[in-house]
Amino acid sequence: MRIAVVGSGYVGLVAGACFADLGHEVILVDNDHEKLRALSNGEVPIHEKFLPELLSRHRGHRLTFSDDLKEAVRLSSAIFVAVGTPPTEKGDADLSYVESVAREISGGIENYKVVIEKSTVPVYTSEWVRKIILRSGTDAESFDVASNPEFLREGTAVTDFLFPDRILIGCDSQRSADLLREIYAPLTDGSYYKRADAIPQPDRAAIPPALIITSTKSAELIKHASNAFLAMKISFINAVASVCESVGADVNQVVRGIGADSRIGRRFLNPGIGYGGSCFPKDVMAFRAVAHEYGYEFRLLDEVMRINEEQRRRFLRKIHDALWTLRGKRLAVLGLAFKGGTDDIRESPAIFLVQELLQEGSKITAYDPAAMDRARDVLNASVTFASSPYEAAKGADALLILTEWEEFSNLDLPRLRQELKYPIVIDGRNLYDPEAMAAQGFTYYSVGRPACLPDGVPTGVLKNGKKA
Ligand code: UDX
Ligand code: UDX
Repeated sequence: MRIAVVGSGYVGLVAGACFADLGHEVILVDNDHEKLRALSNGEVPIHEKFLPELLSRHRGHRLTFSDDLKEAVRLSSAIFVAVGTPPTEKGDADLSYVESVAREISGGIENYKVVIEKSTVPVYTSEWVRKIILRSGTDAESFDVASNPEFLREGTAVTDFLFPDRILIGCDSQRSADLLREIYAPLTDGSYYKRADAIPQPDRAAIPPALIITSTKSAELIKHASNAFLAMKISFINAVASVCESVGADVNQVVRGIGADSRIGRRFLNPGIGYGGSCFPKDVMAFRAVAHEYGYEFRLLDEVMRINEEQRRRFLRKIHDALWTLRGKRLAVLGLAFKGGTDDIRESPAIFLVQELLQEGSKITAYDPAAMDRARDVLNASVTFASSPYEAAKGADALLILTEWEEFSNLDLPRLRQELKYPIVIDGRNLYDPEAMAAQGFTYYSVGRPACLPDGVPTGVLKNGKKA
């Protein structure tokens, strides 16, 4: 099938490359000419596993790039809209890009098309997109608007797309549902997974994936509700971690106990310095705003956001508890990305913390396996960038772990201890076992667990970030 994908950001680029891998002819449309030029020249603008392979496999054949939206619409049966939906100052989603794309799409509709929202949008958007296309004089019979949200995590977006837990299709007509079913048939009939050149299967994959068909509005809501629920899970465990700190319990043990209940599940219960990224902060806020607009005060989401904010502040207090004053102190920072496996620093709690620490007068040497280029653009010039965790640690008063990169959980601890001026590690992602760290000679602080001194004796109960 001929497919147009509008917007070649994280979502659009991954979706476009994956549709091509399923055998479709894809035109990726963007109004950023620099981006189009880079993509056509073989550059891969984002750090995403398997994306370089897919782009080089299909670029110029089944995957082409264009700035001509109208022509792409004319040539395609399905048009996926994946342009940005950034938050406004009020917290709701700015849908002006979606609107302008909808207006332009209408100019290319000559025969039946399905316009599909791929971006995360509030529940009334499909109706508006439909109205905008109708207002531009398009015949109501010649198009349908559908919703097909993505549940891609950055870093594993390609495998999330090709091996999803479920494919969600929100449609209000049989015709559009049939077309979307056909697009995903290689996944739902399992034929993609039999191909020798298929992207390798991840550990946890339900093959073939479930296909869920709902109304358009329900699909829009499922996306917001899913992200809000996951954010709530993270804030919940972070709140539990704070209670653990007050009473001297170990949140990792608590997580093991809670997560073993199959009704709750272990995933997304990792305590830390709060969630970040381009989705959770924005989507929780937008879901709160859309509920308010329709007369429901979703106060639970206020609390999810408040706990997330508080979590970063608690971590700052923890750094103070460990080091007392910060002016002039040399701190090694491991991790700048909002999570491991990506170069994305949007709404990164690590960046927030580095900025706060700089403001307090600390000197920072940072290392991140992928996000340093992006971080350089936003961080104060006084941050020094290192080429390895050990170089960052050299002569530092303490080491902070701010992103859950896998390589940070396998550090050469004796070497790290040698590099640091003082063997103090303040871990915002609970990557190490406190007792093992103490045995290696570190003073180790983490989230929701008692701090440990080098001799392995816990420092005792922590209360509100302070020793009781
Ligand atoms: C975006 C949304 O923010 C997210 O909520 C949604 O789920 C998917 O789309 P992302 O892909 O990360 O996420 O956005 P971004 O990286 O900003 O990419 C958007 C792309 O659309 C950019 O390449 C931009 O140049 C392009 N664009 C934007 C257009 O082609 N036309 C426009 O009118 C506006
Ligand atoms: C998220 C959703 O998972 C995905 O389904 C959606 O389509 C887009 O938004 P992403 O933002 O890429 O994906 O990252 P995710 O892995 O969900 O992590 C988000 C944030 O939560 C990160 O800052 C991460 O560090 C944090 N997190 C995640 C925790 O603090 N604890 C956890 O247990 C899980």
